[in-house]
Order: sequence, then structure tokens, then C-alpha cells
Amino acid sequence: MPVQLSVLSHISAIVGDAGDAVRLLGEVFAASGLVRASSSFHLTSSARILHVGLGDVTLQFVQPEPAGGRLHRLLREQGPQVHSLAFFVDDLESMVIEFAQEGIAILERSRIALQTATGSVEAPVCVFATMDRLGFNLELIEGAIGSSKVAGDDEQPGAALFGNLSPLLHVELAVDDLDDPCGLLRRVFGSGKVESRFAEFLGSLGSLDIVHVNLGDVVLQYCRPKTEDSSWAQLLARRGRAIHNITWLVRDMPETVAVLTRQGVQDLRSFSLDFGKLVGSENVPENLAPQRIVDLMPRLGFHMELTEAFASNIDDFIFNPFANWKARPQLS
Ligand SMILES: [Fe+2]
Repeated sequence: MPVQLSVLSHISAIVGDAGDAVRLLGEVFAASGLVRASSSFHLTSSARILHVGLGDVTLQFVQPEPAGGRLHRLLREQGPQVHSLAFFVDDLESMVIEFAQEGIAILERSRIALQTATGSVEAPVCVFATMDRLGFNLELIEGAIGSSKVAGDDEQPGAALFGNLSPLLHVELAVDDLDDPCGLLRRVFGSGKVESRFAEFLGSLGSLDIVHVNLGDVVLQYCRPKTEDSSWAQLLARRGRAIHNITWLVRDMPETVAVLTRQGVQDLRSFSLDFGKLVGSENVPENLAPQRIVDLMPRLGFHMELTEAFASNIDDFIFNPFANWKARPQLS
């Protein structure tokens, strides 16, 4: 029986300056700093930890101190990076057995405070060493999958979103093999291919083979470079399987670019996809601005891929409906 996951709890990135990461996201995207009460990293590493909400995602920036052991070594040797995606599972020990059968070990055991109706309660956490297989480690927290929250997460503004970005579109990874991560996710979590037409469209365009697969409510965009010269191929050569960027929609690209430029942030690349071939040209907004991947890995641990809403019928092509998304204007 596949293991059921909660919705995404948080994404953790290791950075050199957590304060800078939070300030940048606040100034560019009006992201909200979160006063989260707990982190599983507090027990196991000496680090400054800050939380920020962006779209429907809680980001945890971990700035390891020089005495911070494994995380500091990772930062020094490989640079800023996404370390883990965190979800709740009902039964952590059966998860340990399940992963052991797949040859996957526990990287760390820890504890985290959860919010309950009557106060906070400590729950066990395992970080599993899945980086080499999935491109990120999996942080699994024991708790009821429909209702558990890390203490402090009740600050999320209900159905509203943090800042002026859309809900998460996808997490994009560079991999040398598409079958291994997808097969592992299918066996353990019952994950399946999603957004197939979207993936085929993107794969037909150029230098990447692409598969979209879900993990809980998250869409993972696995990209296998076909050439040696792309930033995906370079990341793969440098770090092995890894998260290349995280993708959201913006309301207005020119105003977003203006604010990014004021913050000294540059494009990694910009491009104009012919979305009409996917969604029908009558459904593509007039004057759709070029899409871009902005070079933020040195500051955030991941690049950001940004695009305007590229189709009036976008919900026909994506896993998580965006129909109710009302973009907010840029604030600064
Ligand atoms: Fe992408």
C-alpha cells in the first residue's frame, strides 16, 4: 500500500545569509516573514533559521554556523541549495522500514513542535537521505496527515496567499535519469505522471526530456538534459540530482523584472514559449511577456522561474487548479 502524504509542509534551503534571503523575497514579492515556533533543524545543527511565506509555500532558510556540522560542510563544498521537502505521514516507523527496503537510510532523526487545539506537542521527524535518488532529501514528520501543522503555521492567511505570487506551479529538478526517481516515488507514495501534455510540450522544445510527477500535492518537474551546456547539465555535473528552480506565476512580468533589477538580480535566461501549441492560440493572453529563470541560487538556494498566467484555460493543463488565483499588484 502506498504511503499517504499530507500537503507540503515546508521547503528547506541552506543559504549563507538567511536574513538576506528573507529580505529579498519581502522586497521583491511582498513575501511575509513568519514567526514559526519550531524547526527540526534546531536539534541537530547550529544554525540561524528564518521562515518566509511565498504563494502557498512556507520556505525555511537555514544558515549554518561554522560549528554547524553537516549543513555547514554542504554549504561550503556545494554552495546554497534546497536541502529537503517536508510532509506529514501518519506512521513514521513504517516509513523507515519502507525506505530501508529501497536502500534509503535515515540522514537525521529530530523532533519538531506541532500546533494542536490545546497547545503544542512534540512530534518525531526523520530526514531521509533521498538526495541522490530524488534530487532532494525528504523530511517526514509524524502527525495526522489531514490536520497537522508545525507550531506557528496557523499564521497562514487561510485560503489567501503570501505575497504577490501564485500558488506553487512546480519544483524543477536536474536529473540524469527519469525512471529511477519516478519509479521510487510510484512504489513508495503511489505518485503518478501528471500534466503529461504540458511535459510533452516542454520536452518537444529543446534541450530537456521532461516528466511531471506528483509528490503529495507538489508537482515535481524532472528534467534530463540532452546537451552538456545548459544550467541544468552544469548543476547535475556539479552536484548530482538536485533542485534547479522553483516556479510560480507573477501578475505582471515587466514590473516584476523592474523590482528584481533594482535588487541586483539578473536573468539566468529568458525565453518565449509558444504556449498556443499547447493551450490553443485563442487562449493565450495578448502581449504575454517572456518567461524567465532568475539567477537566485546563490542567495536563496534555488533559482526562481517566473511566468505570467499563460492561458485562460490554464487549469486544463495543470495538476493544482489556479482558477481562483487573483494576482496582487507589485507593492514596491
Ligand atoms: Fe519549469
